[in-house]
Amino acid sequence: LRHFLTIEGLQRQTLIDILDLAESFANIKAQAVKKVPLLRGKTVVNLFFENSTRTRTTFELAAKRLSADVLNINITTSAASKGESLLDMLHNLEAMHCDMFVVRHADSGAAHFIAQNVAPHISVINAGDGQHAHPTQAMLDTFTIRRHKGDFGDLRVAIVGDILHSRVARSQIHALTTLGVGEVRVIGPKTLLPMDHRSLGVHVFHDMESGLAGVDVVIMLRLQRERMEGGLLPSEHEFFQRYGLTEEKLSLAKPDAIVMHPGPINRGVEISSEVADGPRSVILEQVSNGIAIRMAVMAMALGRQPGAETGGETS
Ligand code: CP
Repeated sequence: LRHFLTIEGLQRQTLIDILDLAESFANIKAQAVKKVPLLRGKTVVNLFFENSTRTRTTFELAAKRLSADVLNINITTSAASKGESLLDMLHNLEAMHCDMFVVRHADSGAAHFIAQNVAPHISVINAGDGQHAHPTQAMLDTFTIRRHKGDFGDLRVAIVGDILHSRVARSQIHALTTLGVGEVRVIGPKTLLPMDHRSLGVHVFHDMESGLAGVDVVIMLRLQRERMEGGLLPSEHEFFQRYGLTEEKLSLAKPDAIVMHPGPINRGVEISSEVADGPRSVILEQVSNGIAIRMAVMAMALGRQPGAETGGETS
């Protein structure tokens, strides 16, 4: 696992290894051990060409908890504004003996392009590329589901909203189907579903009433307006009426169903505050779990095998 660019094509066992290693990191933290020395002497560079709150900060925290040095490159104040190309920037960072680039970019395929062009000792982690993939988000989501629900095989999981523009949904679908989830549903209007949804191995619903019936997990997505063309823009009011998750619609799911959202949430558009802040919401748990998952992915990409994580330092 030198690079971590997409879930698509990964073996089930690889995903299980990531989940299990993340579990051990989450347990270490529960024992008040804040840092492990796994990546001591390694340098991780956060390269975020697109805005982020959760992903960038949890990658930074995860790297620090592994004892790595972390550089956060501010793209807007970097020499990119003086015309330096992306590859020249990367080669200069390589010359500073960096070991890992964590990349978010608005263009689909950007992380793959970077992975193809970096020195052989560098690992690249995709922190979200355009509409394509957000693999660590999918892993932290499946980690959260496993912690609440155990076995994947008996579960029904519904992903609701703007599937078409969502790199999160695409990665979640690959992760959930690879892990053997019983049934993966997508719910949304025809205009917000991808053309290839049938080949993704999901069941498609256009209304919440039938789509949410009997599900164990409800994953809400925001309308990704920054990736929409003008003609596709639905009215927020109309969208909330049809697809916004309220207590009433949530009552169609199983009584112990959990509610998830990758964030940022838009209250009153895809989810009501009552549900987002309610007892079945695990939205903030997802954020916390992102640290353990990103620790696991970074450790594995830099050649630290599962089981090598023992030996923490309290701090
Ligand atoms: N879920 C997610 O990717 O959030 P950020 O955009 O804040 O990183």
